[in-house]
Amino acid sequence: MKTFRKPLAAVLCVLLLLPALSGCSAGDKRIIRIGHNQATDHPTNIALLAFEEFIESKLGDKYDVEVYPSELLGSQTDMVQLTQTGAIDFCVASNSILETFSSNYTMFNLPYLFSSSEAYHAAMDDPEVADPIFESTKQAGFEAVTWIDAGTRNFYTVDTPINSPDDLKGLKIRVQQSPTNVTMMSLLGGSATPMGFGEVYTALQSKVIDGAENNELALTSNGHGDVCKFYSYDMHQMIPDILIGNCSFLDGLSEEERAIFEEGFKLVNTVEREEWGAAVEAAKDRAANEQGVTFLYPDVQPFQDICTPMHQDLIDTIPELAPIYERIQELNAEYASAEQ
Ligand code: GCU
Repeated sequence: MKTFRKPLAAVLCVLLLLPALSGCSAGDKRIIRIGHNQATDHPTNIALLAFEEFIESKLGDKYDVEVYPSELLGSQTDMVQLTQTGAIDFCVASNSILETFSSNYTMFNLPYLFSSSEAYHAAMDDPEVADPIFESTKQAGFEAVTWIDAGTRNFYTVDTPINSPDDLKGLKIRVQQSPTNVTMMSLLGGSATPMGFGEVYTALQSKVIDGAENNELALTSNGHGDVCKFYSYDMHQMIPDILIGNCSFLDGLSEEERAIFEEGFKLVNTVEREEWGAAVEAAKDRAANEQGVTFLYPDVQPFQDICTPMHQDLIDTIPELAPIYERIQELNAEYASAEQ
């Protein structure tokens, strides 16, 4: 299924068709709305449906959870703003776009931050690393309640195989709307073209861009592999998705309810992680065999060497992030040999 950018008017129509938003109820139940931008077969949607089932099994007399996939409630940026104001209660946002709401999120957007996916998972699970970042948007009206694996981001292009950073020169590559991603792309030599996820398929098809960068599921679940024939494992980022919740809603829960919701948030994380590995394998298989995508395995070092100065730049700009960065380095050392 391809995800297309919903014109704002269409999004507004969906919202208007919903009963009055914040605090709205079906009968005497409080409806909890969760928006995300993935297709219905994506691990994120599967995990959120597990959350819906769990909350309704425990608190179904009071809450009715509704999951809206495929940008039905707007782009990620729209949904973050809706969550911020309490128009909806939760949404899934890429960590990338959250850096414009709190610069602490820049940490997880750094290219080549983690030495392996084990180190990445350990860091995201470590409250010493995650809490100061997850709580940093409370003043803005929302907070992170759990993280969701979104694999490793790599470059893919319509017709140019990327074997080294030189191959990116002169190419227009879609990046997420985040200053870090624009900087990374410029350092690597390509021309960064920031846009929302739902616009990428059409931009590739109409050759407005030459390529993009994402995990393997974008090829299949979003149809990008129908247009892009080369996917190159330069492994530049492991950027989590973040489930964010409106603070007024969360703070309004009783202690008992909050404990149940916390269990539900953990469930989102575990179910999605259980689904992720198989989903990536299935996507690779389909991309290679049905869409005709060639997978390339370039030497990662030249890409990494160009990007790593960004780490020190961030610490120089936001020195308070230094302890978190140090902790990540400890985990990188501990889990370094597990992969690569
Ligand atoms: C991944 C990620 C999404 C994000 C998308 C993007 O698919 O899971 O949250 O929106 O990348 O590149 O925008």
